[in-house]
Amino acid sequence: MTPANTPSILQVGEFPGAMQTEVDNTLVTTKTISATVEGILTRSNCRIEPALLDQLPALKVISTCGVGFDGIPLEITRARGIAVSNTPGVLNDAVCELTIGMLLGLLRRIPSADRFVKEGRWEQGLFPLTRSLAGSRIGIVGMGRIGQDLAGRLVSFKTSVAYFGPRPKSLPYTYTASIQALAEQSDILILTCPGGPETDQLIDADVLSALGQRGILINMARGSVVDQAALIRALEQGAIAGAALDVFEDEPHVPEALRRLDNVLLTPHVGSATQETRVAMTRLAVDNLKSFFSIGRVLTPVE
Ligand code: DGY
Repeated sequence: MTPANTPSILQVGEFPGAMQTEVDNTLVTTKTISATVEGILTRSNCRIEPALLDQLPALKVISTCGVGFDGIPLEITRARGIAVSNTPGVLNDAVCELTIGMLLGLLRRIPSADRFVKEGRWEQGLFPLTRSLAGSRIGIVGMGRIGQDLAGRLVSFKTSVAYFGPRPKSLPYTYTASIQALAEQSDILILTCPGGPETDQLIDADVLSALGQRGILINMARGSVVDQAALIRALEQGAIAGAALDVFEDEPHVPEALRRLDNVLLTPHVGSATQETRVAMTRLAVDNLKSFFSIGRVLTPVE
């Protein structure tokens, strides 16, 4: 791309800290909507509204920084022949690490144990016994790249892994064709599936009741995958034992009813939020645009 033929690229959404530095070091972007815009650089926490696409007749490519693409109206991009790319793979390690951290944090009650020591309560008595991960039956919902990397790590914790998804894959884990059956057979249900219409409210009151009173739910996917009101009821009534949630229905708003529960561990959608990972994601998002404008193809297309 020479300055004379540099395409106009619209940045949609904020890229925090090191991510914006990476963008600014490698690409010229604008925040001005104009009919000459040919590319969009965005993040997976942003929505690309159809009304914005209407104002961009020359748009050829959307590159999102993140693995999720549920904020992009694919029915419109497909109809208009706009290429779409995401950043799979480079965030697997970070998401898996946080998932394991959340899982152990919840089972071993690490945040409460930390408060217990810091508040001087150890001198008055012992911290209650917690729960082991070893021996647990894990159900993974969505055995894509992240699910598979996670399963590999979980086996080393002496757990057994089964999974649910659109189809069985040639993997050494048990496939379960029904989400209800997977919940019934699992102690811990971990969500790593994509958001969007196909998984909307997949985890409803019935699935939670199948997970049962010793059941744990871990959501690293999207808030839309869970019926949040049903989850709050299940947690309040002890229909499941606990939940660790990195994603919510209406981020950044987290209902007070969820925030005051003891049997939950909550993080602010930070699955991929390490310096190293976010810079790698940004680099890949920029490289997708560069590739498109030099050879006509993105590197990691959303099919
Ligand atoms: C993703 O990549 O979609 C994550 O949710 C963003 O951290």
